[in-house]
Amino acid sequence: MATCTPKAASTAVYGQQPIFCVITGASRGIGRHLAIGTAKILSRNTSRRKSRLVIVARSLEKLQETKSLIRDQYGDRIEVSLVSRDLSDVSGLQSTWDAIISEASAENYSDAILVNNVADLTGDIGRMAGQHTDASLIQKALNLNFTGYVLFISYFMQYFKTSCQCTVVNLTSLLGRLTTNVISLYSSIQAAREQYIRNLVNSDFETRAFSLDPGMVDTDMLATGTESFTEHFPSIAKVHGDIKSKGCLTSPETVVNVFLDCLENPDHYKNGEIVIADEPMVRYQVAIGATDDD
Ligand SMILES: NC(=O)c1ccc[n+]([C@@H]2O[C@H](COP(=O)([O-])OP(=O)(O)OC[C@H]3O[C@@H](n4cnc5c(N)ncnc54)[C@H](OP(=O)(O)O)[C@@H]3O)[C@@H](O)[C@H]2O)c1
Repeated sequence: MATCTPKAASTAVYGQQPIFCVITGASRGIGRHLAIGTAKILSRNTSRRKSRLVIVARSLEKLQETKSLIRDQYGDRIEVSLVSRDLSDVSGLQSTWDAIISEASAENYSDAILVNNVADLTGDIGRMAGQHTDASLIQKALNLNFTGYVLFISYFMQYFKTSCQCTVVNLTSLLGRLTTNVISLYSSIQAAREQYIRNLVNSDFETRAFSLDPGMVDTDMLATGTESFTEHFPSIAKVHGDIKSKGCLTSPETVVNVFLDCLENPDHYKNGEIVIADEPMVRYQVAIGATDDD
């Protein structure tokens, strides 16, 4: 079997050409911050045709809030489209994708970016590895966190690859690399998502892709995780609480800055690999004066 070494993707800073960008899970949390951050790059385009940002989530109201926040900063310098769909409904994903590209024509853009940010903790709450007995819950977790993720990458590549420089960003987690007994489904799926990104750049050297580990950001997902630990794994909930009270959580600005830096400077990361935006656990260990022996 021939082995292939992925080439470094070409370096090209986004400039004056129109860009098409899709961000999933952009109605709140990290996705909303990434959407506002991306608008900064997209708004630089000086050509007659505007760049387009498509933001996807279930809540139309919250997507509209994200759009307003973008409008407040960048006016109408970019087109912002909202697609309100449940991404765990895999039978509807082709139609969701069709809605995403409904106002787009790939030839009108120089670059296309897919940010696969959506994820949830379905199936994990209150269960450890070895306790997942509900097939429908496991399937539900896979639908949103992996099947949809893989399908969106394929739809995106098939639509944009011939005309655009494509970049795929996968939001990942330290848990994808950490052996854990809790949120073990999520953790295993994160590992699979990271590997899929490596496989993607190995099968298409021209494509840029990276997995972005944001650290620990104060969002609904973090709150859901911490709340479930409070009931089932109180010692972990306490560490989460301490990390927050000691001011060691990751700021959304840190995540956005690292994300934009990687988008604009592909030579700042190894194509297909993981980019760690922040290491809150390391800061926390220092804050409590822990040593390697602890
Ligand atoms: N927060 C952290 O500390 C942390 C740490 C490591 C990794 N991450 C990763 O970062 C990403 C974002 O996390 P977050 O903390 O910002 O999550 P979050 O606060 O829970 O936000 C999730 C986003 O996804 C959307 N969403 C959830 N289920 C959906 C569905 N079925 N269909 C369509 N949209 C759906 C939500 O909007 P609607 O409810 O409107 O649909 C929301 O916009 C995830 O991939 C997560 O794994 C986060």
